[in-house]
Amino acid sequence: MKYMIVLLTLLITSSAYAEEGIERGEALFTSRCDACHQAPKAKSLTLNQWRAVLKTMKVRMKQAGMNPLTSEEAADLDQFLEANAR
Ligand code: HEC
Repeated sequence: MKYMIVLLTLLITSSAYAEEGIERGEALFTSRCDACHQAPKAKSLTLNQWRAVLKTMKVRMKQAGMNPLTSEEAADLDQFLEANAR
């Protein structure tokens, strides 16, 4: 019984954690991507297409002299797209 409670608590906290990453990713999607163009809808591409596009966008951001995405930002964006891509 004690074991079950520990397991349940772990499950609940880890899904709440993922939820926060998705929310942060969604905010970044607008704040970071709208700098150059309107960010397209997450549903418009598959996750693999997104990952390819993001590689190019990182280069575009560098070329434009913008702050690169931190690894946390990249991870949050990826979580958001994983949950919302086509
Ligand atoms: C520094 C400016 C800049 C930023 C910031 C930027 N983009 Fe782009 N984006 C471009 C340009 C320029 C193109 C036109 C295609 C190209 O040159 O790669 C483009 C094209 C696209 C396309 C069309 C697909 C393609 O390859 O043509 C998508 C989707 C896209 N961007 C998504 C994003 C997302 C998501 C972000 C945020 C992580 C983002 N962009 C941030 C400049 C930017």
